[in-house]
Amino acid sequence: MDRVCVTGAGGFIASWVIKLLLSKGYIVHGTVRDPCNEEKNGHLKKLENAKEKLHLFKTDLLNYEGLCAAFAGCDGVIHIASPVPGIVPSDDPQTEMLDPAILGTRNVLDACLEFKVKKVVVMSSATAVMFNPNWPSGLEMDESCWSDPEFCKANEKWYSLSKTLAEREAWEYAKKVGLNIVTICPSATLGPMLQQNINGSSFLLVSYVKDLEGRSSDETKKTEDVERAVVDVRDLADAILLLYEKQESEGRYICSSYSLMTRDFVAKVQSMFPHYDYPKNFTEPNKTESALFNSKKLLNLGWNYRPLEETISDSITNYEEAGVLDTKGIELEIKF
Ligand SMILES: NC(=O)c1ccc[n+]([C@@H]2O[C@H](COP(=O)([O-])OP(=O)(O)OC[C@H]3O[C@@H](n4cnc5c(N)ncnc54)[C@H](OP(=O)(O)O)[C@@H]3O)[C@@H](O)[C@H]2O)c1
Repeated sequence: MDRVCVTGAGGFIASWVIKLLLSKGYIVHGTVRDPCNEEKNGHLKKLENAKEKLHLFKTDLLNYEGLCAAFAGCDGVIHIASPVPGIVPSDDPQTEMLDPAILGTRNVLDACLEFKVKKVVVMSSATAVMFNPNWPSGLEMDESCWSDPEFCKANEKWYSLSKTLAEREAWEYAKKVGLNIVTICPSATLGPMLQQNINGSSFLLVSYVKDLEGRSSDETKKTEDVERAVVDVRDLADAILLLYEKQESEGRYICSSYSLMTRDFVAKVQSMFPHYDYPKNFTEPNKTESALFNSKKLLNLGWNYRPLEETISDSITNYEEAGVLDTKGIELEIKF
């Protein structure tokens, strides 16, 4: 099981997974859409052991032959690539979000079957778990919970819909052909970035620290107060490796460490880094967007996670060092 392919290698979460795999001596194949794009993928080449043990393959999720080339000879595949929402809303969710997620997952699993891959870890999301209008508010959600596709469609939650349908597709396909898969459903993932460009979930924390929408100075602009479930990207990478390595891992796994209301989360960050401009006005608590998760299944498998303060501290320090929080950073974020 020592040769593994990770899809979407240059992304925020995949980069940490690859760093961990390389540090454990795995030979890693990584799929990227543009191996020559140093801004997106240059950081991978600087990882410890990358020179000897990391091989990048150019492919898109909709390119079956490209995926086959990357999976050939691999014992396992960790399928992470999927479109994630940016700050510019998508105007064609079917082409930009749903097709790459659902058909892409199908292509990945088809190629895994063709190359007799022994184990596949599929990255799903807490958004494939949490959007069910019939779920009683305040009750913890576990792996038996699924987001309701009709609710996602009606509310134009295209990302959540893409993750829900892609995970469902993965389970239907794996059961039909007998492929060994596990899926993982992480909540909002924070932590230091290895890559250069800011990703969606890191942007969430940056937007609080920088008060990007001027919510601290304009009383009419309110920050939505929802129960925010989070996990550290380094703990998530540990969880993914645990699922890959443990023979007894099976089914779905929620991966979430802490849940707190946005206003409490902002207050915590502010208590640690008081010199930034934080939002002051919050909406009434929004119950539809709030969810409490239960990660007992993953904890029982041996997973553990770090204190929230460490995640906040390491993230903000990383953004400061990367220049994301200075004026130059603002331009970067708007481009994203
Ligand atoms: N961050 C979170 O809070 C969070 C929480 C739960 C689940 N997830 C899941 O974790 C995964 C990674 O997310 P992330 O936060 O690390 O975001 P990210 O940094 O934006 O990574 C997304 C990756 O997917 C790749 N990708 C997107 N569309 C693709 C396509 N059509 N073909 C090939 N590659 C494609 C991107 O490649 P390019 O660089 O070429 O664009 C990028 O490498 C996603 O599946 C996401 O749904 C994330």
